[in-house]
Amino acid sequence: MAEILVGEVDDFDQDTRVIVEWGTNHEVGVLRVGDEFFAYSNRCLHQGGPVCEGIVIGKVNVNLDNEKRALGRTFSTTELHIVCPWHGWEFDLETGQCASEPSLRLRKFPVKVDDGRVYLVV
Ligand code: FES
Repeated sequence: MAEILVGEVDDFDQDTRVIVEWGTNHEVGVLRVGDEFFAYSNRCLHQGGPVCEGIVIGKVNVNLDNEKRALGRTFSTTELHIVCPWHGWEFDLETGQCASEPSLRLRKFPVKVDDGRVYLVV
């Protein structure tokens, strides 16, 4: 295993994405949400879009009545998704699991924070 220095913790705000080139033709996106860092392959499982460059939003929940009619939507504050900017496929931020195709999962990489520095572990 190798550690790649990605930057200082303070370099990351909620909208920062650092794309790390790794190996041949491979990119990993590192992002920060709150105090946590996440890293995933930056290749969407739909058509290869730069998924890690998408926005992070709460999972959309549709509220139904007893007859299964939609009463409106709410956004989860605990389950977050990253949304691919090409066609909107959503992936669970914690696991990388695709929301619409649960058998698909983005490749996740460990992130290590040490002495104020962020490292991608590959
Ligand atoms: S390439 Fe990501 S949603 Fe299509």
